[in-house]
Amino acid sequence: MKKITIAIDGFSSTGKSTLAKQLAKELGYVYVDTGAMYRAVTLFAMQQNIISENHFNKEQLIAALPEVELHFEFNTHLGFAEMFLNGKNVETEIRTLEVSRQVSKIAEISQVRAKLVEQQQKMGENKAIVMDGRDIGTVVFPNAELKIFMTASPATRAQRRYDELTGKGQSVTYQEVLQNVTERDQIDTSREDSPLVKAADAFEIDNSGLNREEQFELVLKLVAEKLAQ
Ligand code: DC
Repeated sequence: MKKITIAIDGFSSTGKSTLAKQLAKELGYVYVDTGAMYRAVTLFAMQQNIISENHFNKEQLIAALPEVELHFEFNTHLGFAEMFLNGKNVETEIRTLEVSRQVSKIAEISQVRAKLVEQQQKMGENKAIVMDGRDIGTVVFPNAELKIFMTASPATRAQRRYDELTGKGQSVTYQEVLQNVTERDQIDTSREDSPLVKAADAFEIDNSGLNREEQFELVLKLVAEKLAQ
C-alpha cells in the first residue's frame, strides 16, 4: 500500500489536531502535533525563568537549547502520543493559557524553529505520517502529497478553545481566550521566519459550518484521491 505524508496547517483552534488524530487512526499512520513541541520549549523557558509576562531573555534560551530534549510516547489509553520534556510527561502542563500566552514569542526564534524542524523531518522520513502545525506544508514537508489548510472564524475558534479549557477544569473567561486566539493569529502570520501562510498547493477548509463527521468525510476523499495517484 502506498504511503503518503499529510501536512495540516492553519490558525490556532481550527480543529487541526482533532482531524489529524482521526486521520492517523483511520490510516494507521503516526500523528505528530508540532504545536506541542513549541509549547514544551515554552514551558522549559518558563521553568528556567527565561520568559515571563514582561521579561524574555532570548539569548539565554538560545544558549540553553541543547539542554532541551523532546520526544513523544504513544499512550494506548488515549490513542495518541504524549509530549515529554527532558524525560517528563508535560502533556497537561503545556496546554494551559499561561503557556499559550508565551508560545508565539518562542516560536518566532529561528534557532528554536531549526531545531524542531530538523526533528520533525526525521520523524517523517518514512512517510505514513500526519503532522499538524503552522509550517508543515511550507517548510517541514514542502513535498507532502496532501496539504490541508484549516480556517474558521475567530469567534468559533475561541468558543472551541474556551469549551476545551473549561472542560478540563481551567478557570478562564471567553474574552481572555478570544484575545489570545487573535493575538497569536497576528504574531503567527507576521513573524519573519516561517510565518503561517497557506501553501500554494494546499486544500483550504473553512470548518466554521462543518461538523466533525462532514469534515472527516471530505478529507478522506482527498486522501483516497492521493493514494490512487
Ligand atoms: O497548535 P498550537 O496552538 O498548539 O501551537 C502553539 C503555538 O506554536 C502557535 O501559536 C504557533 C506555534 N507553532 C508554530 O509556530 N509552528 C508550528 N509548526 C506549530 C506551532
